[in-house]
Amino acid sequence: MATDFATIDRAPDVADDLDMSHFWMPFTNNRYFKSNPRMFVSAKDMHFTTDDDRSVLDATSGLWCVNAGHGRAAITEAIREAAGVLDFAPTFQLGHPSPFRLASAVAKIMPPGMDRIFFTNSGSESADTALKMALAYHQAKGDSGRFRLIGRQRGYHGTNFGGLSVGGIGGNRKRYVSQVWGVDHLAHTHGDAARFQRGLQPSNGGLANELEELVSLHGAETIAAVIVEPVAGSTGVLVPPMGYLQHLREITKKYGILLIFDEVITGFGRIGAATAAEAFGVTPDIITLAKGLTNATVPMGAVAASREIHDTIVHGAPAGIEFFHGYTYSGHPLAAAAGLATLDLYAREGLFARAAAMAPVWEDALHGLRDCPHVIDIRNCGLVGAVELAPRDNAIGARGMEVFHRAFDTGLLIRVTADTIALSPPLIVNEAQIHEIADVIRKVLHEVA
Ligand SMILES: Cc1ncc(COP(=O)(O)O)c(C=O)c1O
Repeated sequence: MATDFATIDRAPDVADDLDMSHFWMPFTNNRYFKSNPRMFVSAKDMHFTTDDDRSVLDATSGLWCVNAGHGRAAITEAIREAAGVLDFAPTFQLGHPSPFRLASAVAKIMPPGMDRIFFTNSGSESADTALKMALAYHQAKGDSGRFRLIGRQRGYHGTNFGGLSVGGIGGNRKRYVSQVWGVDHLAHTHGDAARFQRGLQPSNGGLANELEELVSLHGAETIAAVIVEPVAGSTGVLVPPMGYLQHLREITKKYGILLIFDEVITGFGRIGAATAAEAFGVTPDIITLAKGLTNATVPMGAVAASREIHDTIVHGAPAGIEFFHGYTYSGHPLAAAAGLATLDLYAREGLFARAAAMAPVWEDALHGLRDCPHVIDIRNCGLVGAVELAPRDNAIGARGMEVFHRAFDTGLLIRVTADTIALSPPLIVNEAQIHEIADVIRKVLHEVA
């Protein structure tokens, strides 16, 4: 019998009736969660509803992904309609219309010339696809000596082996010895001198110059690509110094190294433009996307490549398949329908411009927390921000986790990485909700030891 989701019991204590033993939860303290479950059962606009019927204000867009807010009818209707017409069709040596339409729509909001779009199903897959594309590009040019991939300390590019290898978050990497060979890392962009800086960090010309050092260490002729998040998200929101990305662009160009921006978080309005590339006026060679592409309704990622990269790989190949890479669900009909409806919604509601317009209110509200207990730094850019707390002695992350739980129980969803509160509300957030976010955090910071 078909399940009618509208009639599922949403009453309190849904968790009591669940067998929680089988779902091995990702990036979760499974033992703690399963004895202290905090469960959502529905969501609309800026709020989740919990299984005990409480409303929770979403200050993290779920996981940096629900940029247009929850339960947007135009998107869910598009998915429903698509599911009734074409449930699945392969995109290997065959096609169907919606991913072509979505690729055109994505191309329209990418920086000029970055209009060749490859679909994946997640940010992790986008990162690995981008890295492979970089290697394939150099090989197609007859430059297969370029195999090195350069990431950055504290960078996050998902959990697959490519992204893991160029990523720079120790906890994610240390246990997995087998990684992509020949990777090196730039230093991260956050310095103690710039604490409580509003917006971009002060210029620090030396930082991007590190790439020059890696070039002299390894030889430019061995380096395929540099991958960075324009604004590092998962590590706790590190905002780049002024001019840093421009400088990286200059150096990569000088040596024929490809520049990849991982815009899985910064894409689709998060910092007040379609991409961080647009916001910062720096055009890389490859951009990775996911999350906001479908407003997180159906998993989907994408990689936008320059025509030069696409044409070199595709037109340079002998007859047959040009790029030996892809996923069963690349360009899935439901995801493509969701993406088309999402991009249309962003445009109709002017949500990227709205994010830019709300950014000063956001900045003021966050920096108003400066005098709260435990706060050692505050960072912001567009509609993303972080409040960093001093860790407890010998217990990194314990204070952050307590703040997370208390905020949740007070009706606010935040995200914490170690002791940093990371915030990224849906772009529909209003001023009153921004103040509510700050007020709850202030209250909780006064409660925790
Ligand atoms: C910059 C960046 N790249 C890649 C990823 C991985 O995305 P996913 O979890 O969809 O695989 C994330 C996830 O937060 C991210 O922030």
